[in-house]
Amino acid sequence: MNKVDFNDRMLSLGLARVAEQAAIASADWIGRGDEKAADQAAVNAMREQLNKLDIEGVVVIGEGERDEAPMLFIGEEVGSGTGPGVDIALDPLEGTTLTAKDMPNALTVIAMGPRGSMLHAPDTYMEKLAIGPGYPEDIVSIDMPPATRVSALATAKGCEPKDITVCILERPRHQEMIAEVRSTGASIRMITDGDVAGVMHCAEAATTGIDMYMGQGGAPEGVLAAAALKCMGGQMWGQLVFRNDDERARAAKAGITDYDRIYARDEMVTQDVIFAATGVTNGSILNGIKREVGYITTETLLMRSKTGSVRRMIYRNPTK
Ligand code: FBP
Repeated sequence: MNKVDFNDRMLSLGLARVAEQAAIASADWIGRGDEKAADQAAVNAMREQLNKLDIEGVVVIGEGERDEAPMLFIGEEVGSGTGPGVDIALDPLEGTTLTAKDMPNALTVIAMGPRGSMLHAPDTYMEKLAIGPGYPEDIVSIDMPPATRVSALATAKGCEPKDITVCILERPRHQEMIAEVRSTGASIRMITDGDVAGVMHCAEAATTGIDMYMGQGGAPEGVLAAAALKCMGGQMWGQLVFRNDDERARAAKAGITDYDRIYARDEMVTQDVIFAATGVTNGSILNGIKREVGYITTETLLMRSKTGSVRRMIYRNPTK
């Protein structure tokens, strides 16, 4: 039992600041071809801001294992040390290559919940499937072949498969999936990176035009996407994918015993959480950083799953 309750309402504005400052720090690296420098700038800023929050925080989804990541590693304690005990999932720069190449949908992302609220996903791949809100439960599943998912969703939406748009990461491992989805007549929005945004697009289908997300991406990003959908509405499933014993060992270290388990959204994020994301480059759900002489402007999505509230916050700050 936490000594202090997780007061998500009070903490949420602080979380928005964390996401904003990480985005602002990476702004100088947009389009400069240096993924590492962009990521490092975001990591430093996110950590500095997190340490200003009155929380006893532990990073459960972070930059990697302690021996691989000097900062915001899994297990790192963050926050002032006074306040509620919270778990934190973060990706200071989701889309490092997108940022380095100034391509759409790079975001800074962070979610926070009470201790034990989020799956400790290992640094492996995860098979992901997501749809937006408003559909009956479990109308699609990871067990279904891609073409069946498309026809099931089309039936539920009351349209033809050709009217469905699926978002998929453009990778050789997805060639068969892409061919099968195409065989249904559905359209595919191919993305080169950034599947947290890819999944979030399903929750705002009317704006983004994306009905369903599928394919393998990072497992940590899967938990962050589940946190976002828990706030925005929508269904999501994830199944860890292991390529070798080392990856299985990582999962075991993270406390995972059933390697084949399919996790529904609320099994990845089991309690109410708060979620903040700031646009770095322009995208379909968030505008990227805008720089004018003397000012920098960000757009942040700040959400609470308890209330389903979604705030869009424009922050304009003088540059020094
Ligand atoms: P980075 O921001 O760390 O570069 O990750 C971007 C990303 O595209 C994720 O959104 C996605 O889950 C993962 O990489 C996919 O991994 P891979 O590039 O190995 O296919």
